[in-house]
Amino acid sequence: MAYSEWVLWIFILCLFGPTPISSESSLSSKIPTNFLSFARKQEVVDWLVGVRRKIHENPELGFEEVETSKLVRAELDKMGIPYKYPVAVTGVLGFVGTGEPPFVAIRADMDALAMQEMVEWEHKSKIPGKMHACGHDSHVAMLLGAAKILQEHREELQGTIILVFQPAEEGGGGAKKILDAGVLENVNAIFGLHIAPDLPIGEVASRSGPLLAGSGFFEAVISGKGGHAAIPQHSIDPILAASNVIVSLQHLVSREADPLESQVVTVAKFQGGGAFNVIPDSVTIGGTFRAFSKESIMQLKQRIEEVITRQAAVQRCNATVDFHEKEKPFFPATINNPNLHKHFQNVAGNMLGVHNVKDMQPLMGSEDFSFYQEEMPGYFFFLGMKDEALGRLPSVHSPHFKINEDALPYGAALHASLAATYLLEIQPQPSSREGKHHDEL
Ligand SMILES: *[C@@H]1O[C@H](CO)[C@@H](O)[C@H](O)[C@H]1NC(C)=O
Repeated sequence: MAYSEWVLWIFILCLFGPTPISSESSLSSKIPTNFLSFARKQEVVDWLVGVRRKIHENPELGFEEVETSKLVRAELDKMGIPYKYPVAVTGVLGFVGTGEPPFVAIRADMDALAMQEMVEWEHKSKIPGKMHACGHDSHVAMLLGAAKILQEHREELQGTIILVFQPAEEGGGGAKKILDAGVLENVNAIFGLHIAPDLPIGEVASRSGPLLAGSGFFEAVISGKGGHAAIPQHSIDPILAASNVIVSLQHLVSREADPLESQVVTVAKFQGGGAFNVIPDSVTIGGTFRAFSKESIMQLKQRIEEVITRQAAVQRCNATVDFHEKEKPFFPATINNPNLHKHFQNVAGNMLGVHNVKDMQPLMGSEDFSFYQEEMPGYFFFLGMKDEALGRLPSVHSPHFKINEDALPYGAALHASLAATYLLEIQPQPSSREGKHHDEL
């Protein structure tokens, strides 16, 4: 509906009908089911599945998503959707709607993981040692699906939807690079999703406020003096020093963190020595730390460095600690905006039924979507794909990870509906009534 028709519609309703607010919400409430039926048309489903499989066969790591980015642009070209490229190396930003404000963004991550696929199927990864084991192939397909739905319904859009195809979510901080490019400055809200193997298909889950933890990585080299394992008095043993360091690091959460605030310190890497009878010169350890506030992340960073260097010194070793912040910037916590939570509940409830919109507990995993949420209201949610008929689906980052492709139309329709109805609801109210939705958002 064109804007002028919309104004007329409101005017008529003011005179005779229910309030403009409820008429507007009834318009908004039809969008989710309409969009889902569109996404479920056989030709759309076949295309979504085809796109996802093509990306799955050719996984690319962070900031190397050259072919994936090319595929995204080719599909946008076919739909007649203009885009900006390159943004943040391989990123693509598509634009659907009026080209005018308000702006709302929907985002998908494009990168794969450095691991070997163990699933034997027709569309297995063709690149040894690389795999889409976190479902980002499905995320890209779903965002392209949303692009198709929105372009088909562009006459109904009351503003502009920005499609963010983002590189390097897996530790590379692609989201931060997109923001640094200054391309999302006037965006009113952003939505993102992640496929979830243990949530039933047709369900979604999220929460208001903290959803995922902030995170950082560390690596330390603990140096001693190598020598014969049977003559320890002539060596300085870095294996023993590193062992004590690891035990001391475990006291940070148990003794220094507020028991009511969730934190994690995990040492996941321990490399040193190669023979039964040689004390090595040095040991390398590494790991990750998680917390829900910036203060706690910075506190953990400081204490991890102190504990490693000082505990190593107890055993006469030297230690250097590197947080790799350039390649792996600390992720903030993923904190969902409460008003967008209400919006999500309405839209997803209209599409899937309110009983299929679940509240969930926060998780200690992290997501670089949080960088967007530091700059604008943002909302992140999980999309179910578990189907009893398929059996238990392996977790993300497993070499056996599989996507239930029946989830693709849901993701596409949710992305498109969240954005399109958001634009409708933040329109300045043409009547003299207070803009209830406007105040909320
Ligand atoms: C530790 O560093 C000091 C100062 O550079 C050096 O003198 C010492 O030999 C180093 N110790 C080890 C075990 O590497």
